[in-house]
Parts: sequence; C-alpha cells; structure tokens
Amino acid sequence: MSEPGEPRATQIDTRVVHAGLEPDPTYGSVIPPIHQTSTFVQPAPGEFVEDYDYARSANPTRTALERALGELEGGEAAAFASGMAATHALLTAVLDAGDHLVLPLDLYGGTYRLVDKVLARFGLAYDLVDQTDVEALRAALRPETRLVWVETPTNPLLNEVDIAAVSAAAEGRNVVVDNTFATPIVQRPLELGATAVVHSTTKYLGGHSDVVGGVTVTADPLLSERIRFVQNSVGAVPGPFDCFLVHRGIRTLALRVARHTENGRAVSEWLRGAPEVEDVRWPGFGGMVSFRHPDAVGLVGRTELFSLAESLGGVESLIEVPQAMTHQSVEDSAAAVPADLVRLSCGIEAPADLIADLGRALDG
Ligand SMILES: Cc1ncc(COP(=O)(O)O)c(C=O)c1O
Repeated sequence: MSEPGEPRATQIDTRVVHAGLEPDPTYGSVIPPIHQTSTFVQPAPGEFVEDYDYARSANPTRTALERALGELEGGEAAAFASGMAATHALLTAVLDAGDHLVLPLDLYGGTYRLVDKVLARFGLAYDLVDQTDVEALRAALRPETRLVWVETPTNPLLNEVDIAAVSAAAEGRNVVVDNTFATPIVQRPLELGATAVVHSTTKYLGGHSDVVGGVTVTADPLLSERIRFVQNSVGAVPGPFDCFLVHRGIRTLALRVARHTENGRAVSEWLRGAPEVEDVRWPGFGGMVSFRHPDAVGLVGRTELFSLAESLGGVESLIEVPQAMTHQSVEDSAAAVPADLVRLSCGIEAPADLIADLGRALDG
C-alpha cells in the first residue's frame, strides 16, 4: 500500500489519470462532486473542515485540481482564474518595488504587457534577454535582479532555453518557467532547478478550448505560502466548474500530447517542402509549429480545419498571425515578432486532413 500523499504510480501516463482524484467519501462516486458553493457552514465560530471556510480561500474542487497539478510538476500548486492571474500572483509574491527581473526576448505578449504596462508602474524594472545565450543572461543580472522569467519553448518563435543552465547562471535567484507549451509530460522545470512553474491551463492541460485558467507550482514552502496569500488577497480564483474541466482535461494529457506530437511532426515535415514557406519551426514535441509566408494574413483566412483563432493546445487545430493577434502588445518593443509569421496549434485530428487543409490554403 502506498502512504497517503505518496504517488501511486511512477509513470507519468498513469499519474495524469489518477492525480488528485479520490472517490467521494460520502457516496463513493468515482469522480468527486463539483462543490458549487461560495461558503461552508461552521458548527461554531471559527470551526470548519480543513481549509474550507469561504470559497475564495479554498474549495474542495479547486483543492483536487491543485493536488493534481502539484503532483505532476513536483511541488505545491495554486490554481487561478487565468494564466495571467497565475503570472501576476507569482510576480507579486516574489518581487518588491525597486527589484529587477529578466524576461525572455520572445515571449507571450500578455506576460510582457503585464510587466511593462502594469507592474513597471509599481517600481519594477526589467530587461529582455535572449536566454538561449547564457552569457547574455549573466551580463543582464544586477544585484537587484530577483527573478528570471523563462518561457520554453517560447511563444511564438519556439526557441528552446536550457532550464538547468539558466538556473545555474541565476546563482540562487528565482527562476520561473512558463511551462504552458511543453506541459509536465515533456518537461518538469522543478526537476531541472527552477524555483517555480506557471501554466496557462487554458491550453494543453485543459485541452478542449472550453475553459480559461492558470496555475503556479513551487516546491519552496515559503514562496508557496506567499502565493497563497496573494491568491486569497487578490481573489483571482477559478470557479469550481472550471477547476473540474481542467482536472478532467489532465486525465487525457499524455494521450493528447502524443497525438499533438505526431501531428506537429507530420505538419512541420510537410511544410518544409511547401512553396514559399520558410523558417519552419517545431521543437520536437507537441503541436506548436511556426513558419513564415509572404501572404501570412491571406493564408490564415483560407484554412477550414485550422480555425483562425487565438489560443492553442486544444484538440482542434488553430491558426493565427501572432503579430496581428496574440502579440500586438509587443509591437514597438525588442520582443516584436515578424509580420509574416504564422503560428499553428496542431490538434488531434488525422494528420493527412491537416496537411490537405494547409495545402489548399497555400494553393490559394
Ligand atoms: C505561454 C503562455 N503563457 C501564458 C498565457 C496566458 O494565459 P491565459 O490566456 O490563460 O491568461 C498564454 C496565453 O496565450 C501563453 O501562451
């Protein structure tokens, strides 16, 4: 028998199916109920079950999701109403006015916007650094640098950063990895020396484009406590039904990532021989592919299976032009992306259909 809290399986394919799930103790339902409640009855003032006094502070459906994500990434998780809320909580839990942080040179536009347009107003300074160059990262570190924010693979250019090398170069500073693109199936940053992990659970973890959410995970108990404090104080918490949806999505994560990978490989190989297509990028796993094409805007309007939409990581394929859509907030900054860049999120459909769809769109 495994002890309480001890993983019941060693393989990630098994762990995603079972993580955070215990049968309902009242009726034995295999899937516990969704605790759609805002508050909890107290038998006497200040007496309540576990942490459950008010649902902004804690809710059993959210706890189940947090246990699952904590187990998969190897730390303690806190769930949020969006990936950006998780990023905000992490940054404000770690940083004080006067601190400096390092951001990647290409990154999700919303992360840049949060730091540049919101947090900089409260006295934070930042630099954008190409983190594939560890010497450049070392040169950017200042005595007041408290945090290095890593995204790998980066969104949308799919550059890969060596988490272990960055963690070593950071010399004890907080290294936070946005693991949204890789998922814990492919990469577990805490095992590579990172201090914390952030996800937009909207993407691969939820997996079905039907929920917006986020999570932070850290194995540092003090940081975990500070994040929980921000989570409760700011209150950007996910509702119980959204937690249920993300948790349900996680159960098929290993299967989905395997199929996304198959499709990412097939589509990127095919694109490498397609007319006028240049600079095809695929990190070797998952469904994210990017490439350049002189008629990027026209092309994305002609696909039928690839829906023209922001976001990624769902079972259905999406296509977008980052410069005009997800990355408008980095225009006029060093993190600006090329206007002819197309980003694909390959879903789990049959690869032949996806390739035929792109072929028709490229033919005009
Ligand atoms: C890499 C990455 N991090 C964070 C986010 C923000 O997540 P959310 O949209 O759930 O707030 C996104 C959203 O696209 C993303 O792509």
